[in-house]
Amino acid sequence: CILCFRRYVIKTILITYGTRPEIIKLSPVIRELGKKGISFKTVFTGQHRELYEDVKDLIPKPDYHLTIMRENQTLTNIMAGISSEFVEILQNESPDLLMVQGDTTTVVVTAMIAFYEKIPVGHVEAGLRTYDLTSPFPEEGNRQMVSRIARFNWAPTQLAAKQLQKENIGNIIITGNTVIDACNNFTFPISYDDKILITLHRRENFGEPMEKIFIEINQLAKKHSHLEFIFPMHPNPNVQKLRPILQHITVVDPLGYPDMMNLLSSVKFVISDSGGVQEECAAFGKKVLVCRNTTERPEGLDAGFAKLVHTNIIEHFNWANKSPKWSGENPYGNGNASKIIIDSLF
Ligand code: UD1
Ligand code: UDP
Repeated sequence: CILCFRRYVIKTILITYGTRPEIIKLSPVIRELGKKGISFKTVFTGQHRELYEDVKDLIPKPDYHLTIMRENQTLTNIMAGISSEFVEILQNESPDLLMVQGDTTTVVVTAMIAFYEKIPVGHVEAGLRTYDLTSPFPEEGNRQMVSRIARFNWAPTQLAAKQLQKENIGNIIITGNTVIDACNNFTFPISYDDKILITLHRRENFGEPMEKIFIEINQLAKKHSHLEFIFPMHPNPNVQKLRPILQHITVVDPLGYPDMMNLLSSVKFVISDSGGVQEECAAFGKKVLVCRNTTERPEGLDAGFAKLVHTNIIEHFNWANKSPKWSGENPYGNGNASKIIIDSLF
């Protein structure tokens, strides 16, 4: 209800982000704030380091830049690192709203601190659910906790809004996903070349599941030698240590966002456990084998461009390889999510 949103007068906004997808998905929201001349400041928590460098040009330089990342950090390391520095920033800035995006540890920690300091929280991409706290871990818990304390809930889809309503959460607006606004900035011609894009990084896949996925994609790459399997590999040591399995795969460093969009526009299809990449597949008319055992994004399965395969890549490979093209209505919106979000506040 837009009127409920507007009953609260907002003059200053503080935005926090810590990881690659938060930066990508907040970039059009930040642009929209700039266009409208609304006063805001940003805090980069430093949860990511190299991946921040890859996408930092999408947004203005942060007003606060923390540096908390450690190699193979635990969730508690991230929480403790952010908490010790963010409280003072929040107290000094005393914004009318803290805006967060998604379900990372940066999101839940900064939102909790705002809640304790009685500063309203606005949550972009609210209402995604698997209702399984182990998958994705810890993201499902993070986003459920944020929903309990958020004052404003920007839900990307009707399903997300319905889930929030069922949990008795109010102040919901359906917006579409801001990642569609972000990727719409890159208009590359769409083709289905002999290339397959792979991204994998989810914590719950570490160990045996990820090893099986790597073995299967490597076997597929060996068998289908006319196809190039391209894997911009996440820097997480738990992913990197499996690199030797990938003898027949082109493993590259993580890509900057324009390069990633360029690649996505030309690949035949995608194999991924990423949330954002699934949503972008809808915008680029690509099919995606989703390496997860459950999903908070069933819209893609219903629309027919996504298939939940977990570690069974060989079994489902032909579903995408035989007829890679997908066209249909993008369930994640048409690229005006950021405008809807900002218009709902002012
Ligand atoms: C985090 C988010 C996840 C999101 C992902 C996006 C949480 C709990 N998880 O997971 O929801 O999908 O970001 O990519 O917030 N590392 C580097 N350089 C970097 C980034 C990471 O070396 O720039 C390595 C470090 O060893 C780090 C590890 O990766 O300790 C894990 O990073 P972390 O942010 O804890 O988890 P992600 O898997 O990136
Ligand atoms: N991405 C990128 N370069 C890469 C891999 C991913 O720019 O090498 C982008 C991708 O297009 C999407 C976002 O990063 O917008 C997804 O981030 P990630 O998969 O790390 O996290 P998730 O979406 O699963 O939270």
